[in-house]
Amino acid sequence: MKREREAGSRKKNVRSRPFLSVRLFLRVFVASRRKIFRESLKKDLEILGMIRKARITDVVEIHKILQDFAAEGTLLPRALSELYSTLRDLVVFEDETGRVVGCCGLHIFWEDLAEIRSLAVLKTHQRRGIGRLLVESCLSEAKSLGILKLFTLTYQVEFFGHLGFRSVDKNMFPQKVWADCVHCPKFPNCDESALLLDIA
Ligand SMILES: CC(C)(COP(=O)(O)OP(=O)(O)OC[C@H]1O[C@@H](n2cnc3c(N)ncnc32)[C@H](O)[C@@H]1OP(=O)(O)O)[C@@H](O)C(=O)NCCC(=O)NCCS
Repeated sequence: MKREREAGSRKKNVRSRPFLSVRLFLRVFVASRRKIFRESLKKDLEILGMIRKARITDVVEIHKILQDFAAEGTLLPRALSELYSTLRDLVVFEDETGRVVGCCGLHIFWEDLAEIRSLAVLKTHQRRGIGRLLVESCLSEAKSLGILKLFTLTYQVEFFGHLGFRSVDKNMFPQKVWADCVHCPKFPNCDESALLLDIA
């Protein structure tokens, strides 16, 4: 009788095992979704802040951000005088504490052509969507001005590819070459890639 009862309960365990593994799967699944949710929430919280037009009091901070990347060779340095004179080109991302953590410039070259330049996000704040927001803000200003094409010279081909830019020949932008590139220490051996976005 006891043996029969034991055999019965063994059978029950064997039968309930598939349900157990389904329950286990569900628990692991729910836990992992919660983790993903927590991580995405954390990421969203971490990018609290706003895009705004640059102010004269931001210039020193913008200069420092650009200098740090220029020292690594990922950006061209910009003189303080140039930043002051092109201040109206610039937007910044200000975090929730009021600190400028990224910047980007929209510089008009010709009737249908503008450049995205001086784009930088502090290393501590990268990969949270700030670079995309900065470029999109310049794109929306370009649209409102009736500009048809945006270009950039960059090492960040993949990043701009994510935003819809495509690789083109640098010779498409003689205005850029004669206005800026001729003053660059790398001229005429520029190793940056030219990318273009047609604004619909
Ligand atoms: C380029 C830079 C501005 C990107 O800023 P960021 O805030 O990290 O970029 P985001 O988080 O907005 O990324 C937007 C998309 O590009 C991708 N991306 C960002 N940096 C990338 C990189 N180096 N390589 C490949 N993909 C990249 C992101 O994964 C994201 O993709 P998703 O939309 O599919 O999620 C930043 O890396 C930087 O300041 N670099 C140094 C200065 C520089 O090279 N500036 C460019 C000069 S023109």
